[in-house]
Amino acid sequence: MFLPPGKQSSVIFPGFDGGAEWGGPAYDPQSGLLYINANEMPWILTMIAAKKRPDKVETFAAAGERLFAKNCMSCHGQNREGAGNAPTLIGIEKSTPAAKLIRYCKRAAG
Ligand code: HEC
Repeated sequence: MFLPPGKQSSVIFPGFDGGAEWGGPAYDPQSGLLYINANEMPWILTMIAAKKRPDKVETFAAAGERLFAKNCMSCHGQNREGAGNAPTLIGIEKSTPAAKLIRYCKRAAG
């Protein structure tokens, strides 16, 4: 009879390493018998709930790249090099105060 595994323990016999085993059979030509190494070891099987995986964690740098690609790249270029009227943003943090940059970001991202 097959009992599907569950959270309630069940005995399996022979166990997962039971029954005919490695070691190989041996044949005795005088008696005509084939000897087979067999284990009769029961196992207890119990299912346990898998641990919940933590939600995907995004670093600040990865979030910045994602947001830049979505909101800024189309004008300021793939590598912030600038294009057309949109100036380069490379090194912008050295020449422009953070508060002003945040205003640009809010305006650009809507
Ligand atoms: C539709 C095109 C467009 C998009 C999209 C855009 N920008 Fe701009 N950005 C410009 C243009 C044109 C200028 C130059 C004129 C100005 O300052 O308004 C500029 C200027 C800037 C400046 C000032 C640069 C300087 O040298 O003073 C910053 C900083 C900036 N953008 C950041 C951003 C960021 C961050 C995003 C995305 C969140 C973004 N921009 C999206 C077109 C764009």
